[in-house]
Amino acid sequence: MQTTSQDTLKKLTFEELAISDLPAIIPIESQVSYHPWGSTLFIPELMQKGFMGFVAKDEKGGAIGFIMGMTVADEGEIRKIAVATPYQRRGVGTRILNHFVLRLKRKKIKHIYLEVRHNNFSAIGLYKKVGFLEKALRKNYYGTGEHALIMRLSL
Ligand SMILES: CC(C)(COP(=O)(O)OP(=O)(O)OC[C@H]1O[C@@H](n2cnc3c(N)ncnc32)[C@H](O)[C@@H]1OP(=O)(O)O)[C@@H](O)C(=O)NCCC(=O)NCCS
Repeated sequence: MQTTSQDTLKKLTFEELAISDLPAIIPIESQVSYHPWGSTLFIPELMQKGFMGFVAKDEKGGAIGFIMGMTVADEGEIRKIAVATPYQRRGVGTRILNHFVLRLKRKKIKHIYLEVRHNNFSAIGLYKKVGFLEKALRKNYYGTGEHALIMRLSL
């Protein structure tokens, strides 16, 4: 079993997500996502105007989590956030999300939106912890009984 010391987490760095990080982050996404994108969807996402993403790396440069989003005018959107399983529930997701929010604040973004499966309680807990509020529910958005919750953080 992979072990993760607390020191590893103290020394996290956040780097702008580049195409060269994909081989490291796609396995994280496959490990933790309900519906992984796989490599074909990542590249167009990174090429989009307004793309903003960060990868959290340990002291050896290994990726342990990432976030991807967009900005358009004064609005931002979170498209994906993921933390590798051995590092979950240790504050890494909070740190990645706070880093993203801070960078968007610096860009004078006023609101950040996201959409999350209504029963993804770990993600909803993370978003609420950072200050996101529930704004709407898109019923059956992902299929019967699978609703999308729209959340917003005003900066
Ligand atoms: C959502 C995710 C990124 C959270 O990352 P994390 O590093 O575990 O989050 P943190 O340790 O910073 O936890 C922050 C808060 O999230 C909530 N949370 C995280 N994991 C949880 C779990 N397993 N059960 C319940 N709440 C959880 C809690 O409110 C937690 O705060 P607390 O520890 O003070 O109670 C991670 O679980 C993940 O990668 N999930 C799969 C991908 C995903 O669903 N992404 C979101 C949709 S795109």
